[in-house]
Amino acid sequence: MSKFDMAALTWDEKPRRVEIAKNVAQAIKKHVPLNKSMRLLDFGCGTGLLTFFLIDSVKEAVGVDTSQGMCEVFLKKANENNINNVKVLNIDLTKDKLEEKFDVIVSSMALHHVKDTESILRRFYELLNENGYIAIADLVKEDGTFHDDNEGVEHFGFDLDNLKTLFEKVGFKDVNYDIAHIVRKEKDGKEREYPIFLMVGKK
Ligand SMILES: C[S@@+](CC[C@H](N)C(=O)[O-])C[C@H]1O[C@@H](n2cnc3c(N)ncnc32)[C@H](O)[C@@H]1O
Repeated sequence: MSKFDMAALTWDEKPRRVEIAKNVAQAIKKHVPLNKSMRLLDFGCGTGLLTFFLIDSVKEAVGVDTSQGMCEVFLKKANENNINNVKVLNIDLTKDKLEEKFDVIVSSMALHHVKDTESILRRFYELLNENGYIAIADLVKEDGTFHDDNEGVEHFGFDLDNLKTLFEKVGFKDVNYDIAHIVRKEKDGKEREYPIFLMVGKK
């Protein structure tokens, strides 16, 4: 059982996580012209917090996640809320096949778990239809203190100018970023701020 399988059942109970997904969804709606003809992919969807905040703005959504526990909770939420235009795939997008195309790919707080950022960005590029959008949210470069346990954390956030250059290298156009949310956490008696960016680009 992975760390995320164990966390899945109580994942949505942390208000901080719901708040992040809500603000990331709001930022995506502001920067990407979503419409009811679009197919959306949520990379590292977890329990679907971001997917379910966006589902009413698109035609259908697919969540992908390596954690079976997360996928089970995602499916349970979809069933309980009679949301029929979503599905979830328990796959590792860094290596498993996915023979589908999307008009928009979103992700929140999952990119830092992938070691090879350039290859996953190339995968996103391939999975997008022409003129499709990418909208990725994650931590701005931090000092490794955001997570209590850094197991599985491949990057302590991202330098935004370097990431923008990588998006452009892979082929994305009109790349821009904004701060979507700021997480405030108490660390050693002091309040620390961890900004979360949203980087958007177009194929
Ligand atoms: C911090 S959680 C974020 C979950 C969700 N996006 C949210 O905001 O609540 C990161 C998620 O990414 C998933 N993940 C990590 N690497 C992945 C990969 N290569 N392919 C698919 N999912 C992955 C993990 O299983 C986990 O559910």
